[in-house]
Amino acid sequence: MNPRGPTSGAVKSASLRRRLAASHLLLAVCSLVVVSAYLVPALVRLQTERYEQAVLGQARMAARMLQHYQQEGLTLAQLDEIAGALAWRQEIYIGVKDADGRPPATSRWAAEGPVPPEVAAALRGAPMPVAVRYDPVLHDMRLYAAAPMLAQGRVTGVVQVSVPRVWMRDVLMRVWEALGTALVLGALAAWVLGAWRARRLSAPVQALARAADRISHGDLDSRAVVAGRDEIGHLAHAFNTMGDQLRKQLDALAQERTKIDAIVSSMTDAVVATDGAGRLLLLNRAARDLLGLDARNVGHPAGDVLRDHAVLRGLERTIRLGTDSAEEFTVGTGAEERLFHLSATPLRAGAGPVSGAVAVVRDVTDLRRAERLRRELTANVSHELRTPLTSIKGFTETLLAGAWADEETCRRFLTIIDAEATRLMTLVDDLTALSRLESRAAPLQFASVRLDVLAADAVSRLHPQAERQSVALDAAPAPAIMVTADGNRIMQVLTNLIENAIHFTPGGGRVDVAVRADGAEAVVSVSDTGRGIPADDLPRIFDRFYRVDRSRSREAGGTGLGLAIAKHIVEAHGGRIAVRSRLGRGSVFSFTLPLAAAEVPPRGSLRPATR
Ligand SMILES: Nc1ncnc2c1ncn2[C@@H]1O[C@H](COP(=O)(O)OP(=O)(O)O)[C@@H](O)[C@H]1O
Ligand SMILES: [Mg+2]
Repeated sequence: MNPRGPTSGAVKSASLRRRLAASHLLLAVCSLVVVSAYLVPALVRLQTERYEQAVLGQARMAARMLQHYQQEGLTLAQLDEIAGALAWRQEIYIGVKDADGRPPATSRWAAEGPVPPEVAAALRGAPMPVAVRYDPVLHDMRLYAAAPMLAQGRVTGVVQVSVPRVWMRDVLMRVWEALGTALVLGALAAWVLGAWRARRLSAPVQALARAADRISHGDLDSRAVVAGRDEIGHLAHAFNTMGDQLRKQLDALAQERTKIDAIVSSMTDAVVATDGAGRLLLLNRAARDLLGLDARNVGHPAGDVLRDHAVLRGLERTIRLGTDSAEEFTVGTGAEERLFHLSATPLRAGAGPVSGAVAVVRDVTDLRRAERLRRELTANVSHELRTPLTSIKGFTETLLAGAWADEETCRRFLTIIDAEATRLMTLVDDLTALSRLESRAAPLQFASVRLDVLAADAVSRLHPQAERQSVALDAAPAPAIMVTADGNRIMQVLTNLIENAIHFTPGGGRVDVAVRADGAEAVVSVSDTGRGIPADDLPRIFDRFYRVDRSRSREAGGTGLGLAIAKHIVEAHGGRIAVRSRLGRGSVFSFTLPLAAAEVPPRGSLRPATR
């Protein structure tokens, strides 16, 4: 797997986790700040009030005590001294003022200036005679509280208490500390809890991300394992279903592709496709053979490997014009020349632009040749039929015109008409035989046949004919040779060949028939010492109606179909037929037949091939 995959997924989800945790923290800090914003002033106010109350309480207690002493007759200066001694800490000042708010003359505290507001408030009987101000003597901010001394409901003086304001600050400091600790602990708890929640929340997302990553890297069987019925659970379920669908679709696509590949590659027609840029997209086996390419050429520019091949021209034209095109072209020259039919179709996705072209090339050489042969056959047959028919018609008309009156002429003409009719019948028989062979209407009746016996039979049957022509006909002695063949058909081949040999050999010549085994084949040869066949005619000698000397062959009742029939029969048996000939010296026609299985000597055997 790509090492980048899981890492990037992890990074993504780690940042998601961090963001989730951070948002938890932010939330916690925000709420703590908001709470503090309301709580701190309230707490400060509360603490300040409590502190002021405490100082005021001290003042009231001192006043209660000192008013008692005053009633016993102590002077203000004496009271002030007692008050000074009541201070429980050094920086605390406790002093006494008269009913006008003035200190006794003995007081250490300055008497000038206006009456302080707390003293004035205490004299008035206000509920909270407290004040905070700068003390010019002690150079300090201080808290002042005053309480009246009473006698029979009248204010007889005031006790003033003052403490440094710093002390109050110390008290407040503890509040601040507690708050700070709460803030830090709260944030810490929020961070820990947030991280834990974030991990739990992000784990399924992380699992999904990992699965998606694996799928994107080709592991289509990867699924996200996510429990839970929340949105992420739903998402994971949908994701997994999507994965299944993807897998199915891809499998179907692959299957389809395999099918198409199999079809295209097994096609005997060559299939070549190029993309819009002229690169080879596809070459099936037939195309590789036809164009002399191999599979490595796929993906390369077609122009480089095909140069100016007709296939390339066809593909380029189709891409350029965006329409189907068809043409025929030849490859090779002379006997090697092959004719090909090319049809090309543009490739386009839907109604989009042309993105390439595919060409199918078919070898139509044999098709065209067969068409030509069929045309020739029709022409030949008509021609062959016309000659005897013309002859019959001519003689009949002559007879009807009055020649019948002369018995001698009548007999001669009728004999000719009979011969021509026989020729017609032979021709029709041969044509029928040939067409039955070609259409395989009459299947071969295979059986085990002694080929040597068959040859001897044919020779003895044709002996009278050979004798009539003063030709010596002989079968060379042969061992028993077994073939699996249709005996009647092979007899027909033998008869055709031997009849030809007798026919084209002048009196005094010889015709020899020999049978032998050669490897896995039996070979039959019919040799004569006749006039031979010109080399130019040899290649076409087995064609239908082909005769070296038309008139002589016809004279002898030949149809020109004998060798064609022989060739057909031999090839239907899986054999070959051939001819060697030297003009004026004679010809050798030979054909092979596969030996019956039991006859084939084992490979590498030194035993002679014949028995
Ligand atoms: N043994 C042979 N020697 C010389 N020419 C032959 C021989 N066999 C066949 N041919 C030539 O081949 C031609 C075709 O033979 P075939 O197909 O049997 O037709 P047909 O015998 O009716 O003429 C003959 O017309 C003849 O010219
Ligand atoms: Mg013949």
